[in-house]
Amino acid sequence: MRTPIVAGNWKMYKTVAEAVKYVHELRAMVPDVTGVQVVLAPTFTALHPVAEAARGSRIAIAAQDVHWEREGAFTGEVSATMAREAGAEYAIVGHSERRTLFGENDASVNRKVSAVFAAGMTPIACIGETLDQRERNETFDVLDQQITKGFDGLTTDQVGRLVIAYEPVWAIGTGRNATPQQASEAHGHIRTRLRQWFGAEAAAQCRILYGGSVKPGNMAELAGQPDVDGALVGGASLDPRGFYEIVSRSRPTAV
Ligand code: PGA
Repeated sequence: MRTPIVAGNWKMYKTVAEAVKYVHELRAMVPDVTGVQVVLAPTFTALHPVAEAARGSRIAIAAQDVHWEREGAFTGEVSATMAREAGAEYAIVGHSERRTLFGENDASVNRKVSAVFAAGMTPIACIGETLDQRERNETFDVLDQQITKGFDGLTTDQVGRLVIAYEPVWAIGTGRNATPQQASEAHGHIRTRLRQWFGAEAAAQCRILYGGSVKPGNMAELAGQPDVDGALVGGASLDPRGFYEIVSRSRPTAV
């Protein structure tokens, strides 16, 4: 039985004061939500204050990115170990904004996923096709490549603990979410590949989140798809009430 995860990716939004106020509001709402792991991914500057504000609650914290080295001469970077020390238990890796705007690729994702595991954290690794690739019918090929290169060398045990976020790039921040059928098809394909390449047990344990214009109004239907184990939410996670509504609709039983 996979516990769903609903993770809020705040991107470059919210000051420390705004972030802490949000956590106080959200933690008052989430105690009645059971059977779902709630995760918030603030900016690096808000990581520690948010972790402190969430201490003792049902909310876990994620970094939005990490560097693959433990330490070194890498101006501007933050390591997984440092994010862990600041209170993060998860780290998002390979988000499409990192891939398109900051030159990340499957090779850097691979190094980062390993670094996150080495720091004792759980990676939330993002994969997904662009609109061009979907229109050229390349979606499955793109996913195959992101899985083979991005997760190369992981143990079956690590793949079982890995969280994958399927985020079609054309659905991110556009208001145009994948239909439940499109999500179901892609998630089913990803799980089949995990089974073929990493074994049945790892495939059965790995959580696959959907991301891309998730809102309170479309969460329940997406969560009702058999291989969808929660969501990575951008824009709609910025308001605590709306995010809470998504969290409360994230279990298949809620459909
Ligand atoms: P969105 O972003 O929910 O605003 O589409 C999702 C993401 O970037 O993870």
